[in-house]
Amino acid sequence: MRNSFYITTPIYYPNGEPHLGHVYTTLAADAIARYHRLVGDDTFFLTGTDEHGVKMVKTAAEKQLEPSALADLNVKIFQDAFRDLHVSNDDFIRTTSDRHKSGVAIIYNQLLSSGDIYLGAYEGWYDEGQEQFVTETEAKDRNFLAFNRKPLVRYAEPTYFFRLKQYGPKVLEYIENNPGFIQPMSRRNEVISKLKQGVEDLSISRATLKWGIPLPNDPGHVLYVWIDALSNYITALGYGADDARFKKYWPVNVHLIGKEIMWFHTVYWPAMLMALGIPLPKQVFAHGWWTADGRKMSKTEGNFIDLPRVMDVARTYSEDALRYYLLRAAPFGSDLDWSDSDFNKAFNELANVLGNGLNRTVKMIGRYRGGKLPATSTELQDIDRQLVEKTGALPDAVRAAFEKLELQQCAMLPIDLVRTTNGYIDATEPFKLAKDPQQASRLDTVLNLSCNAIYRALVCLLPILPDKAHAGLAQLGVDAKGRTMEDLLNNPPAVGATLGEGQPLFPKVDPPK
Ligand code: MSP
Repeated sequence: MRNSFYITTPIYYPNGEPHLGHVYTTLAADAIARYHRLVGDDTFFLTGTDEHGVKMVKTAAEKQLEPSALADLNVKIFQDAFRDLHVSNDDFIRTTSDRHKSGVAIIYNQLLSSGDIYLGAYEGWYDEGQEQFVTETEAKDRNFLAFNRKPLVRYAEPTYFFRLKQYGPKVLEYIENNPGFIQPMSRRNEVISKLKQGVEDLSISRATLKWGIPLPNDPGHVLYVWIDALSNYITALGYGADDARFKKYWPVNVHLIGKEIMWFHTVYWPAMLMALGIPLPKQVFAHGWWTADGRKMSKTEGNFIDLPRVMDVARTYSEDALRYYLLRAAPFGSDLDWSDSDFNKAFNELANVLGNGLNRTVKMIGRYRGGKLPATSTELQDIDRQLVEKTGALPDAVRAAFEKLELQQCAMLPIDLVRTTNGYIDATEPFKLAKDPQQASRLDTVLNLSCNAIYRALVCLLPILPDKAHAGLAQLGVDAKGRTMEDLLNNPPAVGATLGEGQPLFPKVDPPK
């Protein structure tokens, strides 16, 4: 039986176009999903859009649009961007879709009949940007400002509540007993200490808002957007409608999110799942936030990395260069900073280390051995053995890094092997060996080992550089399509196999100014 692997991104608010942050989460999830497909797991990768809530209504009104029209417009932009960036999501859920709404009705009715939902009244502070109710103490602590620095808004209305308070201690216990649940570890403590202060029941309906999913038992109310939104992770699998599919992928392996929405995913969502009697996610992983040139990205400051900017980089340097830059920018989980000089460094590694290493190897085998891979001799020198050892160790190191979601390592380890290979070629000087017929077998060894090292690096890079690693492998005469990592590693290009043409892997472009 194949293992199943289910990974999600947050579903994004389509009140504007996607930007660097959305692209980052999605491409990181994409790399993880691609890795799991590569190792043969039955993988399901979900992304989508979170279309209800006050934020949508307000932005639509500013643009003199209906919320649904605003959603349609921007959802298309999200979907086109993900397609153009070669995102391999298996599904895209919209919270305005019938399948989601009917799934939410099932979830809501189940919570209502288990007694986890009751009618009460709410008066208090609301953060409209985050779509989040804020307690009195918290409101004071924050100077009555929302996460986005706009004032908190006062809400007063009858509302349905979810019995979050009752689940608080159980969620806390779960988090404490399952150290792998919240990753990275550092984020775990924030949630634990906040939970220890105690939680109140959660207001989950709004009677003053029309743009949302009406409550099945009281259609004058719409469901609070976070309950609606979190449900996507199971409605997309067909919860309550397609049991087999749901059971196949749930519990989810990784909910990948940005650090600002940790609380919703590690407190509200587990509490809801406990109330529904559904197993909890195996892991919620919060990555860091992007700044640009050392400052918070902001349109007014002019350092906002918007979609056109992201796409421009992808078009000029290749989609894969964008991926590589984003994933290697910082250890996965830490905050990151966009800068042209860092991008340059990353692009140089791709063009000059990987591209050049591949190119010179293929060209030398073409020139000196008619494009056929020569055999190694039995007598290896120390320098050969060192390369062989490093080559042999790469797949396990990369596997371990993917299992721990150390995406920066996943990107850098294979490049590091190619860097070593380039050093090996410089030191063994095949161009000199080629001039001396006595050294023919030595040259064979150098060419074979270089090719094998680069081959393995490219196989391990398939999840990070999906297009370029395929193209690179094609230059080594290998079609990697549909093949597993194991198969590829067990069947490197055979001695005598004909390699393809040597082509530059990355475009020749001037570095960004
Ligand atoms: N709709 C909610 C999530 C509901 S999930 C059940 C939401 N949407 S959002 O459009 O605001 O997207 C938030 C996500 O975008 C973050 O969690 C993160 O994944 C990504 N990013 C947005 N800005 C970001 C940065 N500046 N840096 C990195 N990622 C950030 O919240």
